[in-house]
Amino acid sequence: MNYDYESGAENLKQNLNCIHIGANIVFLPKLDSTNNLAKEYAKSNAPEGLVIVADSQTSGRGRVGKSWHSPPRTGVYLSIILKPHLKTDQLSLITLVAGVSAIETINEFSHQRANLKWPNDILINGKKVCGLLCEMIPSKENSCFLVIGIGINVNQIAGQFPEDLKKIATSLRIINGSPSNRLAVIQSLLKNIDREYHVFLTDGGNSVIKKWGLNTNLFGEVVSIKHGSTITTGTAMRIDSLGRLVLLLDNEHEEAFDSGEVSLNKN
Ligand code: BTN
Repeated sequence: MNYDYESGAENLKQNLNCIHIGANIVFLPKLDSTNNLAKEYAKSNAPEGLVIVADSQTSGRGRVGKSWHSPPRTGVYLSIILKPHLKTDQLSLITLVAGVSAIETINEFSHQRANLKWPNDILINGKKVCGLLCEMIPSKENSCFLVIGIGINVNQIAGQFPEDLKKIATSLRIINGSPSNRLAVIQSLLKNIDREYHVFLTDGGNSVIKKWGLNTNLFGEVVSIKHGSTITTGTAMRIDSLGRLVLLLDNEHEEAFDSGEVSLNKN
């Protein structure tokens, strides 16, 4: 193999200096899904901070049953196990922690600024460059493990996306006109998640909610949110203390959503 992953996990761990994440990194050329393997590890008592990285995935999973296109030598596909001692209703804040960390990395490597679309898509010029899939695994002690799966389109050229993604997906390479080193992208991501997670465990979410708001252009826009078979339209106002998106509805009441698919209602 002659590409940026040939030096493997050992190089990745060097100078990481993280508190919570990356002491253990599993690096594999091919997997069905890094989230699937991370869930298996989490169930068999793997330590917090374990990271699974794959060069390619054969069944990469996205949110709401979608798949994540994961060919070799192009994208970053990784999953991290976290075991925070939190109440269940606070767990979705960890998704925001991951989203804020990922956008910091994307902005470090991108020549154009990215923005967050709730709950955790990262877009550049309206096209998706990164997606996050956070999954909960109930554990015996009446608490939960979390698996944070992150996919970043790094070195795809436009023709490498399948037809149905060409209009909605982009990559750092398409934006910059030049490739990025995926190991460097992963190192930045792990450092950012480690720092934001540490701040979160200390301050309980104030910092991440504020940073999330600074990296989105949703607030003040009229959006529709699809949750189950219901679609609700309103003005996106803010993220609340539980990480929910708050909409101001036509009847002047506010409603907070903890899940759903958001689309912007631009004329
Ligand atoms: C989405 O935007 O729908 C979420 C995409 C998440 C993709 C990543 S790639 C690494 C990890 N493993 C998976 O199977 N999915 C996530």
